[in-house]
Amino acid sequence: MSLIKLLNFQNLGDERGDLISLEQQKNIPFDVKRVYYLFNTGASVARGFHAHINLEQVAICVKGSCRFILDNGEYRESVILNSPDLGLYIGNHQWREMHDFSSDCVLLILASEYYCESDYIRNYQEFIALVNK
Ligand code: TYD
Repeated sequence: MSLIKLLNFQNLGDERGDLISLEQQKNIPFDVKRVYYLFNTGASVARGFHAHINLEQVAICVKGSCRFILDNGEYRESVILNSPDLGLYIGNHQWREMHDFSSDCVLLILASEYYCESDYIRNYQEFIALVNK
């Protein structure tokens, strides 16, 4: 079983250019409470390094590229996001890291919950303890 669950979004573009539409409970498999985006990330910067107790997310590189690592405590997998028609679904209890941001990368994240620091597990050993419970 792969940890990497990719969503392929239909491109509604035409000769004028591209267009992708995201709709909750349709091509996004949850209700969206929050949207945020990362941009101007330094070339040598890695981000993430946490899991969530109760949060679903879809990550889309709407411009440029970056590499995600997902880890469920048993397996660790890597995927490059480099297209606006590709979404990476990230469920509960998945350690995530983001690496190798291109200088033009704009990484859009749709999230099922409002920001809540107490939902974060930022310590890898705590994450391993949680998934082995
Ligand atoms: P952080 O969780 O460190 O980003 P990442 O894990 O993606 O590298 O977030 C950086 C700061 O922004 C931190 O102080 C928390 C804050 N933040 C919000 O206030 N709201 C949000 O939706 C997010 C994602 C972060």
